[in-house]
Amino acid sequence: MLNGKRVLLIVTGGIAAYKTPELVRQLIKAGASVRCVMTKGAEQFVTPLTLSSVSGDKVYTDIFSLTDEHEMGHINLSREADVLLVAPATANTLAKMAHGIADDLATTLLLATDKPVLVAPAMNVRMWEHDATQDNVELLKARHVTMIGPDEGDMACGEWGEGRMSEPADIVASLGAFFDAHAPLKGRKAIVTSGPTVEPIDPVRFIANRSSGKQGHAIAEALRDMGADVTLVSGPVNLPAPSGVNLINIETARDMKAAVDAALPADIAVCAAAVADWRVDSEADQKLKKDNSKDNGGIPTLTMVENPDILAGLSQPGPNRPALVVGFAAETETVIEHARAKLAKKGCDWICANDVSPETGTFGGDANTVHLVSRTGIENWPNQSKRAVARQLAERIGNYFTDLNTSDQVEC
Ligand code: PMT
Repeated sequence: MLNGKRVLLIVTGGIAAYKTPELVRQLIKAGASVRCVMTKGAEQFVTPLTLSSVSGDKVYTDIFSLTDEHEMGHINLSREADVLLVAPATANTLAKMAHGIADDLATTLLLATDKPVLVAPAMNVRMWEHDATQDNVELLKARHVTMIGPDEGDMACGEWGEGRMSEPADIVASLGAFFDAHAPLKGRKAIVTSGPTVEPIDPVRFIANRSSGKQGHAIAEALRDMGADVTLVSGPVNLPAPSGVNLINIETARDMKAAVDAALPADIAVCAAAVADWRVDSEADQKLKKDNSKDNGGIPTLTMVENPDILAGLSQPGPNRPALVVGFAAETETVIEHARAKLAKKGCDWICANDVSPETGTFGGDANTVHLVSRTGIENWPNQSKRAVARQLAERIGNYFTDLNTSDQVEC
């Protein structure tokens, strides 16, 4: 439900903080990764060590910690999250959020973030019902902060009423519903190609390349995380099958084309596979034998023929053309020029140009430097993990469809 989502959990000083280890556990079980920030008050109810143990990550408590600033920087805590979840959120924290007070790490992050914020309030019923708190809640809602709960029930102070923090399972479900409602690619179908193709010479030998599938698989996962219904067509790779994605394993370029064609129609196609441009004209039925008595010392001559171009096929105008077709250009020299030429020749909408010279480690490595080339310009992205490239590309794709929807509405 929360596959791949990065949750920054801000724990503030209410008795309900004792439920946060269970909340972290359930968030992780739902597929999220969780990093925790605690206020001094929260440390009275649950220890940083507990939350660090269940989250498997460092817990951040101090805005003035030199080591934390050096390692991470407090702004990066928010940059590296998809959502900020404040649970429990005390009346005091809600008041600080509403009035822009930033006097510790938690409230500074909440003031500095541009990410969605969800809060699960927890406090005594009278504090919850107080006009000051209710006014603060209305202010925060008007600023698109999402409230989860509070629930009604027995309170730690012995009273009964509204103010209990929602149960961890309900908070996880609310977060899932939030992401569902904000999935810009919900209802969109995407096809992603990934990995190498393998072109047989005879029953035991083949021609292939060094693609690991890391980039293509990460793109399939990022599109899935944005709500798309993803078909991933992959050559042989050594990666686990991504959950929630329809994986089709193939070997040759011709298999890949057949699988892609069978997955049409689609709204989005991203061709990250390293498809062999050529294959051996006629695969030998039996293993080729060395026969030194033959001409040329028995060394076979392989005649190559061209493989179908899957990206160019997808880009052809017609009823089955996806609304957005994205190719990759794997280059070892004059990267941008070659990418522009490929964009024109293949007829796709965008090309992700990447330098695959051996010294870059792009083939098989964990990082990539992409230049997004379109007919209107070029964006130079930083060197970053392939997962980060995938997220950036998925976000760009999400924006593309959001803009498309908006312009449709304006035209109506
Ligand atoms: O798999 P990794 O180890 O993570 O490495 C990632 C990557 C380097 C393979 C990836 O980032 C990448 O660059 N993929 C495209 C590789 C490639 O074959 O590039 P190309 O410039 O030769 O082809 C241009 C485009 O046409 C690509 O989108 C390719 O998928 C597509 N193509 C090429 C030939 C063909 N017959 N059919 C195609 O669809």
